[in-house]
Amino acid sequence: DKSGYKHFMAKEIAEQPAVLADALNRYVDQDSISGPIADLDFTDTTGITLVACGTAFYACLTAKYWLEKLARIPVEVDIASEFRYREPPIAKGTTAIFVSQSGETADTLAALRYCAGKADRILSVVNVAESSIARESDVALPIHAGVEVGVASTKAFTCQLNVLLLLAIKAATDKGELDQGSRAKLLETMRALPGIFNVALDRDSVIETASAQIAEARDVLFLGRGLMYPLALEGALKLKEISYIHAEAYASGELKHGPIALIDKSVPVIVFAPRDSLFDKTVSNMQEVMARGGKVVLVTDAAGAQQAGSDTWKTIILPEVDEVVAPLLYALPAQLIAYHAAVAKGTDVDQPRNLAKSVTVE
Ligand code: F6R
Repeated sequence: DKSGYKHFMAKEIAEQPAVLADALNRYVDQDSISGPIADLDFTDTTGITLVACGTAFYACLTAKYWLEKLARIPVEVDIASEFRYREPPIAKGTTAIFVSQSGETADTLAALRYCAGKADRILSVVNVAESSIARESDVALPIHAGVEVGVASTKAFTCQLNVLLLLAIKAATDKGELDQGSRAKLLETMRALPGIFNVALDRDSVIETASAQIAEARDVLFLGRGLMYPLALEGALKLKEISYIHAEAYASGELKHGPIALIDKSVPVIVFAPRDSLFDKTVSNMQEVMARGGKVVLVTDAAGAQQAGSDTWKTIILPEVDEVVAPLLYALPAQLIAYHAAVAKGTDVDQPRNLAKSVTVE
């Protein structure tokens, strides 16, 4: 049931404030973490390996930044289909984490089975609690996104990020890297997100107008730095899978190592850049794009928009948030750009060609 929405994808994007609030209620109690994450101990964890496919892989890539920065634990991230055949050595002290909406992705399940008996502990972050991946892990952490029908993952991605950030906060606490005050502040920031999501969703018509023009392009580039780099990858994946527009993402700093050769006036360049500690660097990359005629779509906050000036092609302004939680918020415009571009092109948004919701074969 689409509850009045034109597509399941639109409904699932709009559900994000509610499902995130529900998920937070299940994992956070006042100013501490509760539920199954509270029971995990990271004191002796010397390394974390995260494995997944597609959108879930980009959630893992985001978690690498969080875990390394907050908990100071070295993190490896891999695509399940590569990991399983590379058969990497698993060091003592490793916690292996498998992220999957369906919990049935064949490559992710095979990667999990490879780690059984080798990793100290196997965790999974799943939406379907009765899935194979949940069953075969030591501890399964449900993301509580509710049923996701649209083939393009939306609310599952933000709910995966939510659980992974909570895991990073728990690990940081166990490692003595996060004092009680900072933890309480971070959890409070997370609890404010559902309300901020609503503000971002209210910007929908601005995003729709920009997306209708983005939809006319043959190629689109996505750029981001730090935590915004995995999000740029997710934005590009979302756009290509439902609108069939060729899209690629790069870490902003990689631009001059090759992709800048593609820039001309026909290529929209979508830049995710809240005014964070890396903002100035991203702005200078953006200026390099504009100097070559590239059409910049800047997704930022009010302070970022002001500092960037008026030479951008489009600017999408989101509420200001702590940079740690920015990936959850910036996921929304990434999803909405893809959605509205696909609607403008008239593609089958919920059932894109050649794709299946659950990939249970290699
Ligand atoms: C993208 C998308 C896919 C899945 C991938 C993994 O929108 O939905 O890339 O993320 O197939 O699926 P799960 O999470 O079920 O393992």
